[in-house]
This record gives sequence, structure tokens and C-alpha cells, in this order.
Amino acid sequence: MRKPLSLLEKIQHPLFDKHNIDVRVKRDDLLHDIISGNKWRKLKYNLEQLKKNNYQGALTFGGSYSNHIHAFAYACKQENIPCVGVIRGESHYVNNFTLRWARHWGMHCYFVDRKTYRRRFETGFIDELSKIYPHHFIIPEGGSNTFAIPGVAEVLTELNSQTDFDTLITPVGSGGTLAGLISGDSVANSKQHKILGVAVLKQAEYLVDEVKCLLTPEGLTHKNWELLTTFHRGGYGKFSSVDVERIIAFNQHTGITFEPVYSGKMILALLDLISQDYFKAHERIVLLHTGGLQGLGGMIEQGRLNAKDWPILPKVAHE
Ligand SMILES: Cc1ncc(COP(=O)(O)O)c(C=O)c1O
Repeated sequence: MRKPLSLLEKIQHPLFDKHNIDVRVKRDDLLHDIISGNKWRKLKYNLEQLKKNNYQGALTFGGSYSNHIHAFAYACKQENIPCVGVIRGESHYVNNFTLRWARHWGMHCYFVDRKTYRRRFETGFIDELSKIYPHHFIIPEGGSNTFAIPGVAEVLTELNSQTDFDTLITPVGSGGTLAGLISGDSVANSKQHKILGVAVLKQAEYLVDEVKCLLTPEGLTHKNWELLTTFHRGGYGKFSSVDVERIIAFNQHTGITFEPVYSGKMILALLDLISQDYFKAHERIVLLHTGGLQGLGGMIEQGRLNAKDWPILPKVAHE
């Protein structure tokens, strides 16, 4: 995969002016139409590892609307690597927006029920899968493993060459992205920034330990990071009509599309935190846009969002 340097874009909002806050967006959503955002970062060294070791294929895990599954299928197609997605949920999802594209790009979907899916970290289950799909490189759900960390850490190398800033914010699902950012911020000679993760799921406190497990030794020395666990809006994939209206208004104002499952929850957290005077005056904040805009396709298909509010969709899901 080529070496990226994504744009850093300053955005305006009346609330930022009122509280004297400077906000920029690291546009990782623009790294690639399909393998966008943190998917690009997390897959970079995973794919390198895969190619170096002559595996016969690659296997990963995800929900039936997973951004990771979608991006992984496309990345494997590009690299000519046979790939398998172990999908949580019944096979009637096979033609939904995400899986239609994943299969179109060559992914074989292996459906398991929710109970079986919960075994995705168990050695016994991995062994069973390895018998069905021998010599496959196995990448966990969300692509969050140790190979993901150096790829995400490169965000900090780029940012340090692009701007001075105080605080970096990212949405958090499995914790790999947050761990990569903390690790990247911990390298010698660079000033340590505040790193905030906005958990998009309920009862996410357990993720603090997951993040620590993924940190590099340098990352473990970073003390200025926090996982915010109260901005999940009801749980993973949940949001109210008011949440959606606020995200759409913000998108229209800034001209950047944030979706309601990950990056949109980060935006709502940012707006709420600014209103609560969480940030100091003149604080310079960078938001990591983690992509995932293909997820809009499934939500529109399910009638949860209205297509007219999300004109970006055709651009992020195509041949
Ligand atoms: C668009 C998007 N943003 C953020 C995240 C959260 O990243 P992580 O799982 O590394 O915490 C995900 C899930 O991987 C995602 O798909």
C-alpha cells in the first residue's frame, strides 16, 4: 500500500468561536474511497505480514454491516489474496449493502450464529477455522492486532509534521485505533499530546485494558490519554433522530460527512464537551476522521437514514 499523508482541514463552527477553540480534522476518510480511515492504517502492516509469509489466504471476523469486512474484502482483492469473512448473524444478510460488495470483491462469507461468534477469540474455535481454511492469516475483528499499531501510529508522525496541537480525538470500537495513536504519540523527542477516545458502545470501560494490551512499550509510558464512556448514545449502532439531525447539521456546516455510528458520535461528544467547558480556551483539537462511510449504505437500506441527507454514498462504495 502506498504511503499516505492525509489532509488536515481546519473547520469552523459558531460553538468553536464562542469558546475560542481551534478544531482541525485529519481527513483519513480521504485516504482511499473504500479502504478509508483507520481501515487503511490498521491493514497496512497486516497485509505486509500476509504477503511476506506466503499464506494461502486471509480470514477475519465482523458483523454483517462491518466497515472492516468491507475494507478488508477490497484490500484482498487489490492484492489478489483469497479472503474469508466469518460473519456474525444469519445468512439472510448475505445480500445486504456491505456483504453484497464484499462478496462482489471476492470475499467468501462464512456465517455463524451469535453464540458461535462469541468464541472468536478462543483457540479452539480458531483451530476449527484453520482446519476449514488452512494456511490462512487470521486477523481479529476490526483489524485490531499488534500489526495494526504501527500503521495507526503513523498518523502522529504525519500530524507532527502538519501542525502543533494539544488534543487528538478518535472514536473507539475495539480499541486498536486508540492504542495506535497513543503508541505513535509516545515516541522519543515528540511532545506528548492529550489523546481522547470516544467509546461508541455501552459499558466500554473494559476497553481500557484492551487498549493497554495493544500498546507498545513506549505507549505504556503515555499517561495523558482517556477513554470517554458516556457518549455512546444508547449503545453500538444506536442513535436518536435528534442525534442524526445534529450530525447532518454539522456535516452541512463543515462540508465533511461524519456518519452516526463512529465519527458522528465523536462529533456529538465534541460539541457536548465544548458546551460543558471541558476544553480550555485556545485549545487546539484534532479530530481523526476514521472513515467508515460505507456503513451509511446499510442504514439507508434499513430505512434508518434518508438517502437524500447522505449524498456522499455512491462515492464510497463502487467497483
Ligand atoms: C469508521 C470506524 N471508526 C472507528 C472505529 C473504531 O476503531 P477501533 O475498532 O480500532 O477502536 C471503527 C471500527 O473499527 C470504524 O469502522
